[in-house]
This record gives sequence, structure tokens and C-alpha cells, in this order.
Amino acid sequence: NEKPSALIMIFGATGDLANRKLFPSLYRLFEKGNLSENFAVIGVARRELSNEQFQENVKKSVQSAASNGNSNIDEFASHFYYHSHDVTDSVSYGYLREMAVRLDEQYQTNGNRIFYLAMAPEFFGTIATHLNEDGLTDVKGFKRLVIEKPFGHDLQSAKELNNQIRTAFSEDEIYRIDHYLGKEMVRNIEVIRFANAIFEPLWNNRYISNIQVTSSETLGVEERGRYYENSGALRDMVQNHMLQMVALLAMEPPIKLNTEEIRSEKVKVLRAMRTVKDDKVDKYFVRGQYGEGINNGEKVPGYRNEHMVDPQSNTETFVAGKLLIDNFRWAGVPFYIRTGKRMKSKSTKIVVQFKDIPMNLYYKTEQTLNPNLLVIHIQPEEGITLHLNAQKTGNHMNATPVKLSYANTGIDGINTPEAYEKLLYDCMRGDATNFTHWDEVALSWSFVDNISQHWQKTQAHFPNYESGSAGPKESDVLLAKDGLFWWPIDNLDVESCQ
Ligand code: BG6
Repeated sequence: NEKPSALIMIFGATGDLANRKLFPSLYRLFEKGNLSENFAVIGVARRELSNEQFQENVKKSVQSAASNGNSNIDEFASHFYYHSHDVTDSVSYGYLREMAVRLDEQYQTNGNRIFYLAMAPEFFGTIATHLNEDGLTDVKGFKRLVIEKPFGHDLQSAKELNNQIRTAFSEDEIYRIDHYLGKEMVRNIEVIRFANAIFEPLWNNRYISNIQVTSSETLGVEERGRYYENSGALRDMVQNHMLQMVALLAMEPPIKLNTEEIRSEKVKVLRAMRTVKDDKVDKYFVRGQYGEGINNGEKVPGYRNEHMVDPQSNTETFVAGKLLIDNFRWAGVPFYIRTGKRMKSKSTKIVVQFKDIPMNLYYKTEQTLNPNLLVIHIQPEEGITLHLNAQKTGNHMNATPVKLSYANTGIDGINTPEAYEKLLYDCMRGDATNFTHWDEVALSWSFVDNISQHWQKTQAHFPNYESGSAGPKESDVLLAKDGLFWWPIDNLDVESCQ
């Protein structure tokens, strides 16, 4: 086990992300022995807190992550310090620098520093500039910047943001989080493809009919109305998570499994993705917004009645799209993506549908054989199922659909590590493979910008799907026009062989 040492500064340390994800993830790394004793955390936020109060917050937030009766929570929390901070004030950065130098010394961090910006992106530029000008990035070891999405609002704003942070950090010191890349089964896409002899030969337009990537949520917009109104599902989910999954599914085998090689293959996919021109947006993309409905047995309001949402809002909470990748491997194979809030189930799945066999020997009637499917279950279940046809006992000369299943229960059979745990560990070890490079960000924004610009110009007929449903009917029509349908993700669960 590598045990990296570092001083980690978390900006936004009193916020939701720090409390829900970052502290518990650091704790799990600590508990598993993946974090050396030589680490310290400075929580930075505006609120006035003492170190002790901050440590109490940290302890509370990691309680449920503790598997061993909490015996080492106190020890873990003793590595945490707090600095009440105004992000625009040079003097405050001066204090922060002194504190950092002291803790570097005390914890022997080898002068390694990680700056984690768990806060609104409008401050990224200011913070990066101050870190640089006020001497916080003068380090003896490595310096790394971790930032959360949204990384800009469109290509232009993403470029501006990038230029700001590049004044203090080089591209290889910037770790842009896409938490989907920390998910166990998203990482597994590569292994399934490149560690098996049976898939790669079929992984092309000769044998694959289409690929469907669905990420549906049951939750609505919750308390994030203000952010979401300016974002919508296209920017919130498609520009990052959905396109990243498509890139992993479609990329060529890298010559090595290292950061540069994998990135460069993903970038090629994004470059090959056909631009959706203004007059084609309505043909290839569908947007939706949830109305009221029943969700988990309860009546829930429509999007336009959510907190901080304009009652006339044109913001989409659902997107379905057909992507075409113009390269030798994928010409003619549609990649359908679909994501939405307040849908029937919380589920992220990838369905790879293979082409029909050339001739059906098994049914004399109209009935067709089921196509072979490879289903990658990202969440909540994790696993793979391969849908085949076989003869069942007593059912002579008939082909019946069967499933081969693998449920991913983790090496220790306990729990698979949280996405954030893996990403934090990667960052500490200097492995940037599962973070998004600027080239990927820029290409995905320019793809998405065409669609959002068209949508801005045209009025949507919202709401157009009921909460608790499978989204607007236009999303089904999108596939029906190609003679296809969405595989009903609720019926594709991981089960043992039938
Ligand atoms: C985030 C989006 O990036 O991903 C949220 O901002 C969304 O709106 C979330 O709910 C979904 O993540 P997960 O891991 O629950 O699928």
C-alpha cells in the first residue's frame, strides 16, 4: 500500500460535500491504513470555528463510516485544524500560509500540499490567484489542486476559469473531479473490455446494434434550485458524467494503462462525436421537465414548484439523446443516452445490444429471438449480466433467454469503496487517470453548447413527464424512429444464472 503524506486544505470545509463525502472518505482511507500518519487537514471556510469545534464536526460526519466501534475517530480528528477565512483577503492567506508551514513541519508532510476547492466555482479564480501570490503554492513537495464541477457554464466560461487556475497550477497539477470516474463499475468498463478476449472482437459496428446509457434518479432538485436553474440536466449530467461513460465505452484500447494514453483515447472519441448542428437538435435530442406525480408512494411537486425555481422555468430535468461517433469502429452505431430527475428508479446502467443473428432457426412464427445484451450495472447494484439464448430442459429445440450474472461485491465481500474515497486516494498518489483533462472538458462543452444554444432559442413545452415515470414519451420516440426501444432498466437486475 502506498501511504501518501500531505497537507490537505479543504476550502468549503463547513459545506455539504466536505461533511457528506470528503471527511468520511478520508476517514475510510485512514481506517484501512491507506493514509500515512503524516497527514494533516486544514478546513477553510468563512464561519468562525475553533479547532475543537471543527474536530467535533469531523467526528460527527465520520461516525457512520466507522466500522470498528469508533475507536480511532479521535485520533483521526486530531489531524484536523480550522482556519476562518475570507477568500478575497490577502492577510487571511498570510495566516493560512503560516499555519500550513507549521503543520508541514509538525506532521512531516514532505512539503506536499493538496488544495481541495469544495465550493462555488465563482471563487476558484480568486483562490488560485491568492494561493499563488500569497506564497501558499511555494512548496517543497508536490502541489495539487482538486476542483469540483461545474467547471464553467459553457466553453467560453470554462476557458476563462481554466486560464485563472492555470496562473497557479499546471495542467498536470489540476485534478478535475468527475465522481462517476470514481465509481467501481465505471472503472470496470475498461477491464471488461480489455481483459477479455470475447468482447473486444465484437466491440464494433459489425456486431453491436446500439449502446444505451441511462442514469435515472428518483430525487428531484432538492435544495439546489438556484444552481440547477442555471444548469439543467444537460450541463449537470450530460457534459460530464454521461459523455465520460460514452468515451470509456467507445475508446480504442490504449497502448498502456497510464493516464496519458487513456486520456488521449478518450479525447479521440470526443473529437469523433458528430456535432449536433442547430437544425438537428430536435431530431437527436429530447428535453423534459418533471411535473408533479407520485414518487416512492408520496405525492411530489413539479419542478416549477420547487424551492428557488422560476414558476415558468424552461430548465430541463431530463435529457435523452442520440450520439454518433464518426470513426471506423462506430460508424452507424447509435449511442443513446438518457438521464433525468424524479424518474421511476435510481439506476445507472449501460446496455450494449448486439446485432441479431443472421438467421433465426428457432421460431417458425413471427416471434424473434432476444438479442444478446451485455449489461453493465453501475448503481445501485454493481455487476455485469450477459443475456444469451439457450435451450431449457424440457423445452426442446427452443431458444429461451437466459442470463449469466456477476455481482460485484468487492474483494473483501463487504462494501465497495465510495467514489470519493478512490478519487482522493488517486490524487494523493498522483494518479490523474480518473480525473478529467482540460481537452476533455473543452470538447464536451463544445458538443453540449450547440444543444443548449438551440434550446435557449426555442420554447419548451414543460412539464412533459410525470414524477415517478420513465420520462417524456418523446424519449421513446427517439429510439422508435430507429426501430429500437429503451431496454427497461428495472427488469435488468443482476441475478444469479437462471
Ligand atoms: C451530480 C449532479 O454531479 O451527480 C447531481 O450534480 C446528481 O444533480 C448527481 O444528482 C448524481 O450522482 P449519483 O452518484 O447519485 O448518480
